[in-house]
Amino acid sequence: MSWTLDYTPTERQSILHSVKATQILYGGAAGGGKSHAVRMDAIMACLENPGCKAYIFRKTLPEIEDNHITPLKTMFIPEDVASFSETKKALNFTNGSQIRFCFSEDDATIHKFQGAEIHWLGPDEAALMTPYQLRFLISRVRLGGWKPVQEGYFPRIIFPSNPGGPSHSFLKRKFIDASPPMTYFYDKSTASKENPRGWKSIFIPAKMDDNPHIDKAMYSGAFTGMAPEQARALRDGDWDSVVGAALFNLSRETHMLRPFTPPRHWTHFSAIDWGTYKPFSIGWYAISEGATLEAKDGWPERYLPPGALVRFSEWYGWNGEPDTGCRLESPAVARTWLAREEEMGLPPMDFRVGDSQMWAQMDGPSVVERMREATQGRVLLRQGRRDRRANYAEFIARLGVAQHDNGMMAPMFFATQNCEHFWRTAPGLLLDANEPDKGPATRGQEDHVYDCVSFAMSMRPIITTMAQRREMEYDEFAARHNVRRGYDPYAT
Ligand SMILES: Nc1ncnc2c1ncn2[C@@H]1O[C@H](COP(=O)(O)OP(=O)(O)OP(=O)(O)O)[C@@H](O)[C@H]1O
Ligand SMILES: [Mg+2]
Repeated sequence: MSWTLDYTPTERQSILHSVKATQILYGGAAGGGKSHAVRMDAIMACLENPGCKAYIFRKTLPEIEDNHITPLKTMFIPEDVASFSETKKALNFTNGSQIRFCFSEDDATIHKFQGAEIHWLGPDEAALMTPYQLRFLISRVRLGGWKPVQEGYFPRIIFPSNPGGPSHSFLKRKFIDASPPMTYFYDKSTASKENPRGWKSIFIPAKMDDNPHIDKAMYSGAFTGMAPEQARALRDGDWDSVVGAALFNLSRETHMLRPFTPPRHWTHFSAIDWGTYKPFSIGWYAISEGATLEAKDGWPERYLPPGALVRFSEWYGWNGEPDTGCRLESPAVARTWLAREEEMGLPPMDFRVGDSQMWAQMDGPSVVERMREATQGRVLLRQGRRDRRANYAEFIARLGVAQHDNGMMAPMFFATQNCEHFWRTAPGLLLDANEPDKGPATRGQEDHVYDCVSFAMSMRPIITTMAQRREMEYDEFAARHNVRRGYDPYAT
C-alpha cells in the first residue's frame, strides 16, 4: 500500500531535516517544536535508510513516555511499515531500521548502552543530561559497516535543547562559542585520525515564534514569576542567559558588534588585568562620539551613543586551557602589547589602565615599573578602580538599554565579535551569592576579562557622585599640571 508520513514541518524544522551535518544543536526556546522535529527526523531517517539504528533519549522514563512514546502512538503508521514494541520501547521498521526510546537518569545507567552502535542519536533536552552522559553517547556513534542510502547525513546527532542545565556549558562551548548560528563549522573536539577536521556541525536556533502549532498564551504564561534570566533562557532560547548570571542584562543581540576599526579621532585606550599563572587580559577600547555602525554581512545597523565604550580588540594571555595563564614575563607582554597596536594600525593610546596589584613590589621592581622600563616609558599605566561594588553597578548600568537624545534605544557598552574571550567568559559569570551587590564571585571563575572591562569602565564612569567627579577632575588636573596631592583646585 502507499502511505506517506503525515507531517508538515515548520520552516526551522525543514532546515533541521535538510542540513547535512553530524552534530546539530537544535534549540533552544521552549515550545519551538524541538521534540516533534527530532522524532520526525528519526522516523524519516529510518524510512529512507534501511537498517538505521536510531536512539532517542530523555533523562527519565516518564519524560520519554510523555514527550515521545505517547505522541508517537497518536500517529498512524501501517503495520507493513513499522510497529511499536511496548516491552522493548522500540519502533521496529520492516526494512530493518529501529528507533529505541531510552532514558538514563544518572552517569551509572548510561553504561547500559556500552555495546550500542548508534547511527542516529537524539538526546532530547540534552542540556539536562550530564556532560559525562553526552560524551558517552557520542562515543557510541559510528556507522560501523552500515551503508545508508542518503549521503552526507550520517552519522547524525541532533541535540534538541533549551539553555540551562548540567550540560549548558558543554553545549555552549561546542556550538554557540564555536560559530555563529546557521553556519557550518568543524568541531575539533571530535577530530580523529580518520577525520582530522572533526565532525561537521551547526547550531540551528529555534524560537517559540517559529512554531505555529502551540498555544502561545499558555506557554508564555508559564514564564511569569520566573527569575528574568531564566525566563529569557526559556522564552528566547538565549544561551548567554545563565541562571544566576552576574551580567544578567548582557546579550549578543544587544551588545555584540561586527568587527570594525573605530575612527582614529575617537579616544582610544587600553586596559589590562594582569596574571601569569592565571591568564592576563588586555582589551582595546574606544569611546564613541555618537555614530551609526552601518549594516554589513548580515549584521544589522547599530547606533553607538556618544560616550559608549566599545571593546574592539583583545589579547588574552592563556595557554588554551580555561583559566590557565601562559606565564609570559611582564616586559615581554609590554613589548608585544605595543607591537600589536602597531600591527593593527591603531592611533597612539590616550592612556592605559591596569590592576592596582601591578604596583605591588615583591622583591624588586613592580610589574608597572618593569613594563615601563621594557618599553622606554611607552607603556605607562594608571590604576583602575578596585571597588567591586562600584564597578559592578557601573557594568550593569552601561549594559542597560536606554533612550538617547535622538530617540534611539541603545546600551553604553559594546564588544565586537572578535573579542572571543569576552564572549566566552563574561556571560557565564555567576553572581557572588553572599554579596550579590559586588557582582561576580571572585573564586573559581574566569573573571579576568570582566576585571579588564571594569577597569576600563572605571576610567569613564557614567554613574558618579559629586565627590567622585571632583576626585576624577582633580586627578586629571594633578596629572596635567604636575601638582602634588592635597592641592584643591576647587579652593577659592
Ligand atoms: N510540524 C508540526 N506539525 C504539527 N504539530 C507540531 C509540529 N511541530 C510541533 N508541533 C506541536 O507543537 C507542540 C510543541 O512542540 P514540541 O513539544 O516539539 O516543542 P518543544 O520545543 O520540544 O517544546 P518544549 O520546550 O516544551 O519541550 C507539540 O504539541 C507538537 O506536537
Ligand atoms: Mg520538547
